[in-house]
Amino acid sequence: MTNPPAADRARLALGRVLGVRPAVVAAAPGRVNLIGEHTDYNDGLVMPIAIARCCAVAAAPRDDGLIRIVAADLPAPGNTSEYEFSAPPPDVRGRWQAYVFGPAALCAARASGRVGADVAIASDVPMGSGLSSSAAAEVAVATALLAMWRVRLSPLGLAQLCQRAEHEFAGVPCGLMDQLASVFGREGFAMLIDCRENLVEHVPLPAASEAVFVVADSGVRHSLAAGEYAARRAMCAAAAGAMSIRSLRDACEGLIERSALTREQRDCALHVVRENDRVRAFASAMRAGDLRCAGAQMSESHASLRDLYRVSCGELDTLVCAAEAVPGVFGSRMTGGGFGGCTVTLCEPDSVAALLVALDTALRGAHGNPCRAFVAKPASGAHLLVQR
Ligand code: GLA
Repeated sequence: MTNPPAADRARLALGRVLGVRPAVVAAAPGRVNLIGEHTDYNDGLVMPIAIARCCAVAAAPRDDGLIRIVAADLPAPGNTSEYEFSAPPPDVRGRWQAYVFGPAALCAARASGRVGADVAIASDVPMGSGLSSSAAAEVAVATALLAMWRVRLSPLGLAQLCQRAEHEFAGVPCGLMDQLASVFGREGFAMLIDCRENLVEHVPLPAASEAVFVVADSGVRHSLAAGEYAARRAMCAAAAGAMSIRSLRDACEGLIERSALTREQRDCALHVVRENDRVRAFASAMRAGDLRCAGAQMSESHASLRDLYRVSCGELDTLVCAAEAVPGVFGSRMTGGGFGGCTVTLCEPDSVAALLVALDTALRGAHGNPCRAFVAKPASGAHLLVQR
């Protein structure tokens, strides 16, 4: 395991800004969701990979109940904060501090005695691009502090603690996919996750000599806190309520058509039911090495997110359309919450060069922006790099 560059920046900042040596250094990856979008909070199926871009945290203990934090990638002033765990929780919604203080406070509540910490954070996961920079930060903070304070927590418990931090401190009512992916990632494997049981099954992916996943950034930054995400979630809950079922996982197309739903509720419910089927088909196709079938599921997923769930945007549609016209591409879709962020494309390795040119040309032509893209390799989940 090579140290991600973010770990070096975090370590340096801890010494330079806070004047202490790290007792622990932890890293946690971002993720790309291959398929299964807006299904996690409907008890459904998702299939992400962790990527080799990490958020890293370096920390040292204190015994005075204080936490001092520094964001290594931000300029001073404004890159440091200090809080007391026993004081009323600060309002950090919409601020970077939420992703450090939130998980730290929840870890401190589980530790014995009066714990405190000096924490430096740095990240190589681009923010707001739909690659789960927030989950990577939360999981890196919690992995470092639980180890430093010697608190035992299962991997699932760790993911759930981080999701709770995002709900309570960042104010985003996210599902559990991103945190699970950041914790359970495995090199060479995707994760097929059943979000009703929180079961994670590792599914081997084709070798990089056969097929690769290319992630392309639309350049449009989204903010899940902006309300659309919460609105979709509420719409799904209302649709399930109107059908008297626990969640949309229990719906089927017949029930949806028979029920008195609004047009929006119907469309959202249909997306979720069909998306769960597509995840199953995608996982089987991957196991069988049927890349054409896997790619077709991805392309259908995008069309459904665009037309039924309505979380795409012009830039994402442009990228998907451009990708699908390149020979050797099996399928393409938006990934993550939507309204901007990235697309993910499954293609033959020999097509990558042509794909990168096509994506850049299309985005510049239609929207005037360059397109940054990279090959995403399935990487391992959160881990400790240093523990003294
Ligand atoms: C965001 C959320 C996830 C999931 C996706 C959409 O990434 O954090 O929980 O709901 O959107 O699939």
